[in-house]
Amino acid sequence: MATERTLSILKPDATRRNLTGKINTLLEDAGLRIVAQKRIQLSRAQAEGFYAVHRERPFFNDLVTFMISGPVVVQVLEGENAVQKNRDVMGATNPANAAEGTIRKTFAESIEANSAHGSDSLENAAIEIAYFFSGIEIVG
Ligand code: CMP
Repeated sequence: MATERTLSILKPDATRRNLTGKINTLLEDAGLRIVAQKRIQLSRAQAEGFYAVHRERPFFNDLVTFMISGPVVVQVLEGENAVQKNRDVMGATNPANAAEGTIRKTFAESIEANSAHGSDSLENAAIEIAYFFSGIEIVG
C-alpha cells in the first residue's frame, strides 16, 4: 500500500467547541500524520471555490454559510492509504449513519455541522491540498 496525502478540514462546529485537539488525537491514533496545519477564516468566495463541485446541490448555500461561520483548521494528513483511512476515521457524512468511535459519530451535530471534511479520492486530495497549501508548508 502506498503512502498518500489527503486534505482534512476541521469545520466551524469543531473549532467553536474547542475540539481540535480531541479530533487530532483520533487522526493520530489511526496512524495519520499531520504534516501541515493552519487555522483560517474562509471568505465566502474561498468556501464557494472549495465546494464548487456541489454548486448545484440544494444544500450548497447553507453549506457555504456554515463553513464561513467561524474558523476552520485545514490540514494535510499523510500515511498508508491516507485518503480511505481518513474517511474511515471520520465516519459517514450523516452522523446518524456513522460508526461508533468515528469523529462524526462522536462529535458531529448534524449532516451539515459534521465536524470534519476529508478528500474523497487521491485525485481530489491533490487538488484540495493545492487549494490551501504551498509545497514548503507541508513537512513530511
Ligand atoms: P463534506 O465532506 O465537507 O462535503 C460536502 C458537505 O456538504 C458534507 O461534508 C456535508 O457537511 C454537507 N452537506 C449538507 N447537507 C448534505 C446532504 N444532504 N448530503 C451530503 N452532504 C451534505
